[in-house]
Amino acid sequence: MPTTLAWSDEYSVNNAAIDEQHKYLFDLCNTLYKLVEQTETGESVKQALLGLQDYIEIHFNAEEKLYKEHPMFADHQELHQDFVKQTNGYIADYNNGTLRLIELADFTRDWLVNHITVIDGQYFRDIAKSE
Ligand SMILES: [Fe+2]
Repeated sequence: MPTTLAWSDEYSVNNAAIDEQHKYLFDLCNTLYKLVEQTETGESVKQALLGLQDYIEIHFNAEEKLYKEHPMFADHQELHQDFVKQTNGYIADYNNGTLRLIELADFTRDWLVNHITVIDGQYFRDIAKSE
């Protein structure tokens, strides 16, 4: 049974706009689990993966604008770029039939939870302190 993501305050970075975007990323990830459950393989999966790729891009751009002045901005940007590369690779593997959708969903879920609570949390705390 897949474990989907439920939003709670522990994920908040104390920025309402970014929290909303993170919630939407959770929704997109949960959609992948729903498709796994429904054993979907066709167009709906393709659309969900394209939607996820698009929104990750939009979200990272929005987030990076907010901590441009952070002394470790480049490190955070690199983590985002690595995730984009990994996700693109996994999507290609899924399309080639060498990766199951649930593996892609698990990877996305685990990365999001870890990144939001550890990295984003820290950066937004640092920004709040320096303001
Ligand atoms: Fe981030």
